[in-house]
Amino acid sequence: MINQVQEHLKTVENFTEQDSEAIEAFRIKYAGKKGVLADLFAAFREVPPEEKKEYGLLLNQLKQAVGDKVKDLQSQTSAQQSTNQVTDPFRPAFPIEIGSRHPLSLVRNRIIDIFSQVGFSISEGPEIEDDWHNFTALNLPEHHPARDMQDTFFIQTNPDILLRTHTSSVQVRYMENNQPPIRTLSPGRVFRNEAISARAHCIFHQIEGLYIDEKVSFADLKQMLLYFTESLFGKSKIRLRPSYFPFTEPSAEVDIYWGLKTETDYRITKGTGWLEIMGCGMVDPNVLSNCGIDPEKFSGYAFGMGIERIAMLLYEIGDIRMFFENDIRFLKQFKGSL
Ligand code: DAH
Repeated sequence: MINQVQEHLKTVENFTEQDSEAIEAFRIKYAGKKGVLADLFAAFREVPPEEKKEYGLLLNQLKQAVGDKVKDLQSQTSAQQSTNQVTDPFRPAFPIEIGSRHPLSLVRNRIIDIFSQVGFSISEGPEIEDDWHNFTALNLPEHHPARDMQDTFFIQTNPDILLRTHTSSVQVRYMENNQPPIRTLSPGRVFRNEAISARAHCIFHQIEGLYIDEKVSFADLKQMLLYFTESLFGKSKIRLRPSYFPFTEPSAEVDIYWGLKTETDYRITKGTGWLEIMGCGMVDPNVLSNCGIDPEKFSGYAFGMGIERIAMLLYEIGDIRMFFENDIRFLKQFKGSL
């Protein structure tokens, strides 16, 4: 047994390979999990008692020798390598991998940029709302059938408290605290009691816009929509379809002309070439007075859109669930975007 250790000691001392692969193989052979050292240590139990002391000493010596040898050889080879290379003293010590922004943040920031350029500020409100700000002030009194348009998560112990179903609640809060002229954009997370599928999620994001001043007309709204669609999609053909929202009168849904060039265009526009992107309208006078703004003096428009929907169009993403899974293979694709 002792002879065996002495043999190994000699082999280790005589080992002089310079090649880094050979050094690594040597290291694994001796110091690896199933290497020589592990075997010899395991064999300690079988060493006759009178030899145990010497065996132990030699074994520790061998372990030390292996460690020193590997360290020596490795530092020699790396010193050689670095003299062969042109070294840049300013390069980072190790490669730092930079992450990417989430596609929803990218799209939100782009929309914010577009509206900031024409004087809109950002405002935010709470995700846990009360009935007044989410519904009643927005011309949706209790028992109004339009409440069913947005399946709501209520807080069980207090039916007055709910998870906001849209960011329109923020326009109420903003108007309650600010007098016109008002130009504000409210991005945020909203919640609806809906089954999750490729097209719908119970948590998603919206951006709400509000513009109130004297003599604001529907023509101003249309001009702003044209500016927005042109800036975001590079497309300036839009149509306004009459629609209904309790908080605006008249109300419209905005479609952009997407085109019918590819098979995907046919699929996503259902063969029409048109895509719905947002809702809008002139703020209902009732909403203005509910929020302490004189509807005789002021008028304004509002609009709201889903950020996921816009991101799905811009990046051709077919399933809304992708945004919430945080699959690194998905997120990585947005590196350096926008
Ligand atoms: N709040 C509406 C929704 O969630 C979107 C919306 C439509 C907002 C029209 C508006 C608007 O401000 O004028 O479906």
